[in-house]
Amino acid sequence: MQNRAQWQSRLGFILAATGSAVGLGNVWKFPYITGMNGGGLFVLIYLLCIAGVGLPILAAEVLLGRTTAQSPVGAFRNLSGKGSPWVLVGLLGVITAGTILSYYGVVAGWCLDYILLSVDGRLLGTAPEEIPSLFPELYGDATRNVVWLTIFVAATIWVILGGVRRGVEKASRILMPLLFVMLAVLLVNSFTLPGLGEAVDFLFAPRPENLTPAGVLEALGHSFFSLSVAMGAMLTYGSYLSKSESIPATSLAVGGLDTVISVVACLVLFPIIFSFGMEASSGPGLVFMSIPTALVQLPLGALWSVLFFALLFLAAWSSAISLLEVLVAYGIDEWKLSRRKSTLLFGSVIYLLGIPSALSGSEGFFGKGLQELTGRNWFDWFDYVASNWFLPLGGLGISIFVAWKLEDQLRRTAFTEGTPEAWQARLYAGWLMLLRYLAPVAIVAIFLHVIGVI
Ligand code: TRP
Repeated sequence: MQNRAQWQSRLGFILAATGSAVGLGNVWKFPYITGMNGGGLFVLIYLLCIAGVGLPILAAEVLLGRTTAQSPVGAFRNLSGKGSPWVLVGLLGVITAGTILSYYGVVAGWCLDYILLSVDGRLLGTAPEEIPSLFPELYGDATRNVVWLTIFVAATIWVILGGVRRGVEKASRILMPLLFVMLAVLLVNSFTLPGLGEAVDFLFAPRPENLTPAGVLEALGHSFFSLSVAMGAMLTYGSYLSKSESIPATSLAVGGLDTVISVVACLVLFPIIFSFGMEASSGPGLVFMSIPTALVQLPLGALWSVLFFALLFLAAWSSAISLLEVLVAYGIDEWKLSRRKSTLLFGSVIYLLGIPSALSGSEGFFGKGLQELTGRNWFDWFDYVASNWFLPLGGLGISIFVAWKLEDQLRRTAFTEGTPEAWQARLYAGWLMLLRYLAPVAIVAIFLHVIGVI
C-alpha cells in the first residue's frame, strides 16, 4: 500500500474535523430554525439528536475511514468486496459533497459581500429600515454572486492544493482558533445588550406548545448536516488519522465543539435580535437581513458587522475545504490522479455547478424560470435534494453497514483502540445499540416525513 498522508497530531485532526463541522449550519441555519421552532424545547431535542444519532454515525464514519485508510468509495469496497452494492453508499457521499459544495460557495460569497458593504460605508449609509432590502438586491445581482463564487472557489482550491498537512491541517490550525476568538468577542458584546435575558429565556425555557413533529425531524436532519456526517467527509478525514487515536474520544471532541458553537451562535444572535425588538422567527433572512440591521446601530457598528461576517466566512471556508477534499481524495484514490490534477479537475466542476446557484436569485432560467416551473430555483433544489434525500440516505447506508455488516471483531478493535480499558465494553455496547436501532429508525422517520406520510 502506498504511504497515505496523516495528520501531524490528534489536535490537527480535531481542528480540521471541527472546521468541517462548524459552518453555515451552526451560525446561519441553526439559529434561524431555532427561531422558527420556538426555541426552548427545540434546542433540547437537537441536543438529544446529536447525542443519540449524530455522534454514533460520526464515530462510525471515522472508523470506516481509519480502518481502511481510503476515501469513501475505496473504504466500502475494501470492507465489502469488489462489485458490492455498498460501494454505491461511498459514491453517493462523493456526489453529495459536490452537491453541497456547489451552493455552499454562494452563501459564503454573500458573507464576503457583506464585509465589503460594511467596509465601504454602504451599510452605514443606508437607513436601518432599508437594510433588509440590501439582501434581495444582492441575491438578484448575478455579477456580484458570480464574482464572489469565483473568489471563494479559488481560495478553497488553494488550500487543497497544499495537501493534508500543509494545506488542510495548517489552514485549520490558523482558522479555527481565529474563529473561536471572534466568536468569544461577539459573545462578550451580546452579553452587554439589554436583550440578553429574553434571549436566554427563549433558548432554554421549554415551551412544549411550540414544538411540532416536523420540528423534531428538522432537528434530526440538521444534526447530520451540522456534524458533516452521512456523506464521507468525516470518513475521508478519518482516513488520515493515526491508528493509535481513540475514535470515541476524538468524535466526542468534534461533535461537542460543533454543538457548543451552535448554541453560542444563538447566544450571540438572539440578544441582538431581541435588543432591537426584531422577530426571532424571521427564517433564513435572520442572518443576512435582521442581524446587519441591528449591528450597524451599535456603537462601532461597521466593525461588529465586519467581525460577524468574517466569522461566518471563515466557518464556511473551513467546511468547504473538507467538502472539496472528499472529491479530491476520490480522484486521487480511485482515478489515480495527482493531487494537483484532481484538485483542478474537481475545483472546476464545482465552480461550473455553482454558477447556476449564483444565478438563482436573478430573473433568468436558473432563478425565476425554474422557480415558476418547479416551485424551486436551482439553489433551492440542490439544497433540498442534498439535505432531505442524499444525507439521510447516506446516513442510513453508513449506520446499517457499520452496525449490521461489519465483522464484529474488527469493528470492536477499531472502536476501542486507544480508549481506557474500564470504558471499552460499555461504550462499545452503547454505541452499537444506537447505531443498530435508533439511527435507522430515526432516519426512516425523516424519509416518511419528506414524502409526507408523517
Ligand atoms: N457541517 C457543515 C455546516 O454545519 C455543512 C456540511 C454538511 C458539511 N456536510 C458537510 C461541511 C460535509 C463539510 C463537509 O455548515
